[in-house]
Amino acid sequence: MSVQDTLLRAAAITKRYPGTTALDAVDFTLRRGSVHVLIGENGAGKSTLVRILAGVELPTSGHLEMDGHELRLASTRDADSHGIGIIYQELSLFPNLTVVENIFLGRELTRGRLLVDRSAQERLARELLQRLEQDIDIHAAVGTLPLGRQQIVEICRALARDVRVLLMDEPTSALSPGEIHVLFRVIRELKAAGVGIVYISHKLEELMEIGDEVTVLRDGRRVAAAELAAVDVNWIIENMTGRRWEPPPQQEVSGGAPALLRVAGLSVPGRVHDASFHVAAGEVVGIYGLMGAGRTELLEALAGVRPASAGEIRLDGQRLDRQPVWERIARGVALSPEDRQSAGLVPTFSLGENMTLASLARHSRRGCLSAAAERGSTLDLISKLHIKSTGPRQPITALSGGNQQKAVIAKCLLTSPRVLLMDEPSRGVDVGARSEIFEIARRLAAGGMAILFSSSDLHEVLTLADRVLVMAGGRITASFARRQFTEQALVAAASAKPGGLHDRT
Ligand SMILES: Nc1ncnc2c1ncn2[C@@H]1O[C@H](COP(=O)(O)OP(=O)(O)OP(=O)(O)O)[C@@H](O)[C@H]1O
Ligand SMILES: [Mg+2]
Repeated sequence: MSVQDTLLRAAAITKRYPGTTALDAVDFTLRRGSVHVLIGENGAGKSTLVRILAGVELPTSGHLEMDGHELRLASTRDADSHGIGIIYQELSLFPNLTVVENIFLGRELTRGRLLVDRSAQERLARELLQRLEQDIDIHAAVGTLPLGRQQIVEICRALARDVRVLLMDEPTSALSPGEIHVLFRVIRELKAAGVGIVYISHKLEELMEIGDEVTVLRDGRRVAAAELAAVDVNWIIENMTGRRWEPPPQQEVSGGAPALLRVAGLSVPGRVHDASFHVAAGEVVGIYGLMGAGRTELLEALAGVRPASAGEIRLDGQRLDRQPVWERIARGVALSPEDRQSAGLVPTFSLGENMTLASLARHSRRGCLSAAAERGSTLDLISKLHIKSTGPRQPITALSGGNQQKAVIAKCLLTSPRVLLMDEPSRGVDVGARSEIFEIARRLAAGGMAILFSSSDLHEVLTLADRVLVMAGGRITASFARRQFTEQALVAAASAKPGGLHDRT
C-alpha cells in the first residue's frame, strides 16, 4: 500500500479501563476508498477502537494520524469537523424525537445564523431515505419504529454529512437481507468517492462480500491483518479464537412429545394474523421471516408485553392469554427481546443485578435477597456463556455489545422458564458464543423446556431448529420439520404474499 493511500492511521493505541485492557498497542491503517473490516470475539476491543477513532473516547496511550498529520480528537465534534462519521453499535437515537429531528440533531441545517431550515432538513432526510430505498415517515417518533428501521435512521444520520471516514459498528445487526443489499450498494458508492470505511460485523459471509482488508483483534491485541481476497472464513475464525473451528453437530429430531405451548388464532392488530401453532417440551422451534414479517410482535404477544386482539395461548392446557406479564413469567414464560437496550437491560445496574432481575424470588430466602444464592447462579452462567467481564459487579454498560446480549439471555435462563422465547438471540454475538448459546438451549430442551426463537439468519435456523415456522406479512405461511426444510423452501415461504391468500378468503 502506498503512503498516499493512507487516510487514517492509529499507532500503538492502548486503552485501559479499571480491571480491563481493552486495547493493547494496536496499529491500524485505513486506506482511501476501501472497506477495512474489524473482526474479533465479543469483548475483543472492536467498538473501543472505533470509539477512539470517532473521538468518543481518548486512548490511554498511542496516537492518531489523518493525511499524514497528527490528529487529536477531544470530542465527537472534533471528529465531525474532520469528516469522521460513526454508526454506533448501540443506536444513539432519541426515541421521542422524530426521524428527521434525529438525523439532524446537534448539527441542524440553518437558514441565516440561527434559524433551523426545516424544509431543507426534510428534503435531505427524504433524499437519504430514498437512497436507502426506505419508505419511512420522517415525522414518526423513532421509538415507535421497529429496531431495523431505527438502524436505518442511524445510518441516515451518519450519511447526512459528507464524510471522509465512516465507522460502521455492526450496521446490519437488525437489517433484513434486502436492506443489507441496499446498504452495500451505498457503501460501494462511498468507496468510489474515496471514503474510507471501517466495518464491524459478526456475519462472516457479509464481511467476505463487502471487505477489502481485514484486521483481527483478540483480547485487545491485533493478531492478524490481511487483504480479504487472500483469506477465507476458516482463517478468520482461527485467528479470532486462536483455535480450529468445528461446526456444531446436526441435531436429531425429537418428536412425538405433547405440546407444552399451544397457540390458536392469535392476532395482534396490523402485525400478526391468526397464528396457530404449538411447541412441544424438548423441542426447539425457529421462526424464520424477513424483517417486518411479525416475528417480534408474535413473541411479544406470547410474553404479554404486547396486547393481542384475539386468540388463545395455553401452557400445559392452562389459559395464559388473559394473564399479565408477571403472571406469565411466574408460570414459566421468559422472553429475551431483540432490543437489549430498551427492553432487556437496566443501564444503571450491574451485570449481576441485571441477570437476576427477573428471578428475584428464586434468589431470596424468606423474603430477603440472598447474596450467596445470587452470586452462585450468576457466576455459573457468566462462565457457561463466556460473558467477558470483570465479574457480576461490573456495570452492565461497561460490557461489550455481544456480552450484553448474552446477559439478557442469562437473565431469562435464570428464571428457569418452561417456555423460552428468544427474539434474534444471536444479534451481535460472535460465532463461537452463538453455538454456545444454542448448545445450552439444546441441553435445556433435553431437560423438558420448550424453545421458540426467531432469526433472520437462514443458516442459523437451518442448523438449530427441529422445526421451522415461516412468517410473511404477519401470517404463518409454512411449517417445516427438520427433514423437510431446505433453503429454497424457506426462502420461498418467507417471501410468499399472504395478502393474496387473504383476499380470496
Ligand atoms: N466503559 C467501560 N468500562 C470498563 N470496561 C469497558 C468499557 N467499555 C468497554 N469495556 C471493556 O473493554 C473490552 C472491549 O470491549 P468492546 O466493546 O470494544 O468489545 P467488542 O469487540 O466491540 O465486542 P462486541 O463484539 O461484543 O461488540 C471488554 O472487555 C469490555 O468489557
Ligand atoms: Mg462492539
